Amino acid sequence: MIRTPICDLLDIEHPIALGGMGSATSPELVSAVSRAGGLGAMGCHYQTPEQVRARTQAIREQTNRPFGLNFLLFDMREDSFTAALELRPAVMQFAWARPDQDLAPYFDRAHKAGCKITHMAGTVPEAMRAAKAGADVIIAQGTEGGGHVGYMASMPLVPMIVDAVAPVPVLAAGGFADGRGLVAALALGAQGILLGTRFLATNESPLHANFKQAIVDSDGHDTQLSEIPDIAAGLVWPGAMTRSRRNRFVERWAGREWFLRQNRAEALAELQAARRSGDVDEGTLSMGQDAGLIHDIVPAADIVTRIAREADEILTKKLPRLVA
Ligand SMILES: Cc1cc2nc3c(=O)[nH]c(=O)nc-3n(C[C@H](O)[C@H](O)[C@H](O)COP(=O)(O)O)c2cc1C
Repeated sequence: MIRTPICDLLDIEHPIALGGMGSATSPELVSAVSRAGGLGAMGCHYQTPEQVRARTQAIREQTNRPFGLNFLLFDMREDSFTAALELRPAVMQFAWARPDQDLAPYFDRAHKAGCKITHMAGTVPEAMRAAKAGADVIIAQGTEGGGHVGYMASMPLVPMIVDAVAPVPVLAAGGFADGRGLVAALALGAQGILLGTRFLATNESPLHANFKQAIVDSDGHDTQLSEIPDIAAGLVWPGAMTRSRRNRFVERWAGREWFLRQNRAEALAELQAARRSGDVDEGTLSMGQDAGLIHDIVPAADIVTRIAREADEILTKKLPRLVA
């Protein structure tokens, strides 16, 4: 079984983490990943303090294993963050700070609450400033990933960040979906992987069944980077685009973003209705290029154990044969 020092740091069995994905992470999904020996994480963005408390309690009713609570720093709800700290999760998973935002106050408060801190970075300077501010783990996120991403690909970004923040451990994210990905991440110097898209196509994922199926049906070539989903939602992200499935909604507004801004309320209502009804052509589905590696909808625990087993086999059986 593959263990890296991050397993001891985060008190997990397998170096495999779930990205806290806004409304796409349910207590069922988070607890399933943690129970299987990975690190589950719940997206807390835009949740009220009551929702953070209720959902954290629901996770704790299903597992006593460590998990994280995820917050987007650029648009932090102070009351929800305070509520999260009072719950003393094992990990605070941060992402997407504004360039001028001081990270230290958030990290210090999380450390005082007894949490380990992970911070997601899509560039080397962002990783370095998070390490300097006291992050315990850096998530190096490549542009292949689903949801909000930067422009650097995982292959060069992960080892660059590993070198830049050493000895702070790094988890690789963006494009990882199987045991081959875990082995590749280890070879690049990371201590494990964090996955989003792969865990969306699981039994416990809260996505509509049609959206899960669209991930399985994808060949990985049908994603695109766009600001259109954020414009529709009325959100301005600090230097990110969304990687989502190319569909009618995005194509209709591409090149007419000004018009989308003018008709935002109507477009958002249509978008939300499409998500509820499972209309994959009119609702946005954030997913990474690794959708092309995803062929089944299974329990989240199976993903954790399958990746760990595949990686173990590659490392112990396939790769040693290559060394003369
Ligand atoms: C639907 C969706 C929502 C996401 N929301 C968040 C979020 O709220 N906070 C966060 O830190 N990362 C978020 N992410 C990014 C993931 O944490 C992770 O970095 C990314 O999914 C990794 O790439 P992969 O999808 O190829 O596994 C989201 C990703 C997806 C697909």
